[in-house]
Amino acid sequence: MKETKILALESSCDECSAAVVTAHPHLTGAVTILSNVVFSQIDLHQKFGGVVPEIASRNHLEMMPIVIEDALAQAHLSFQELTAVASTREPGLIGALLIGTSVGKALAYSLRLPWIGVNHLEGHLHSLFIADQKNLRSIQPEHLPILTCLVSGGHTALYLIRDLPPNPLQLIQISETRDDAAGEAFDKCAKLLGLPYPGGLQMDQLAQKGKAQAFHFPRALMQQKNLEFSFSGLKTAVALQLKKLNYLPQGIGAQWGQSSAAHLKPSGQMLFDLCASIQEAIVDVLIAKMQWALSETKAKSIAIVGGVSANSRLRYRLQRETLAPIFTPDLNYCTDNAAMIGANAFFKYQRGERSPIV
Ligand code: KG4
Ligand code: ZN
Repeated sequence: MKETKILALESSCDECSAAVVTAHPHLTGAVTILSNVVFSQIDLHQKFGGVVPEIASRNHLEMMPIVIEDALAQAHLSFQELTAVASTREPGLIGALLIGTSVGKALAYSLRLPWIGVNHLEGHLHSLFIADQKNLRSIQPEHLPILTCLVSGGHTALYLIRDLPPNPLQLIQISETRDDAAGEAFDKCAKLLGLPYPGGLQMDQLAQKGKAQAFHFPRALMQQKNLEFSFSGLKTAVALQLKKLNYLPQGIGAQWGQSSAAHLKPSGQMLFDLCASIQEAIVDVLIAKMQWALSETKAKSIAIVGGVSANSRLRYRLQRETLAPIFTPDLNYCTDNAAMIGANAFFKYQRGERSPIV
């Protein structure tokens, strides 16, 4: 029988990505990535301080054929050798999703292959089952249920993973954010400091030279072991702190894009300290909620997935402060990528799940 090789496409936001995914040679419940090409649109959106949906859709249309050709070339495959095509179906920017789903369906139809639609959030959760990462071998049935925190630019939620691939994950959602996502909080606070979009990674790097206790920012919903998240107040607190320090919070309303005088933005040690203190407020909340949820649910292990799971402080503190086994995706598979979509699609394909093309 022909070996399963799935071409997966991701276009839910500002990353245009194609990957080819196949079975792991030895491990069931794991996939191997033959290629994972990601074109980031960050440069196109940066001058607007955030993702512009129309620009995202137009660029996906332009780049999708290019990343697909690249992914096939890197995997040394032709279209004829594929078994199925998969695309991110939801949630995300509707125009951007439409490009990945239309291209995926058209390819599948013309190649007479099945098409598989994947939920982006389930895709992130399947980043844990990509085999070229050190943790994979250690995820075993005795680690179930896995308390999993999905932390990205669009979502922050806690789940229980109750089964392992190739089976469906048997997810239970425990909680989510009432307002902003953790990545959104990083990005919006970074913008106030005058850092370019998306600010998460840059804040992570600048924070390494700062003092996390220099400023105190709010940690919301920390009473009574509440498992919900709320990050929307953080940006107001940061804006007020900047004003108190005689800086001008950047990027508010029409002011975005105008270069304000350098002395109105924090720099040097002050910038490092602000980044470290903001990051600590976000990480404190994420860790506290994961610890509470771990004891409430009697989960046997913890995992983090999504763009913010790349955060070095979150990874470091989680390792130090948690007694349960911890699973994190390889850094390549934290922010949006088609490999994780392919991982989910691979197990759906194995289970005989197909999505309608029309
Ligand atoms: O998963 P992702 O690529 O997109 C969504 O599905 O939303 O996550 C993007 C988010 C952005 O908010 C970005 O600032 C954040 O992940 N991010 C980070 C880091 N790397 C990416 N946040 C904190 N520390 C990082 N190292
Ligand atoms: Zn994502």
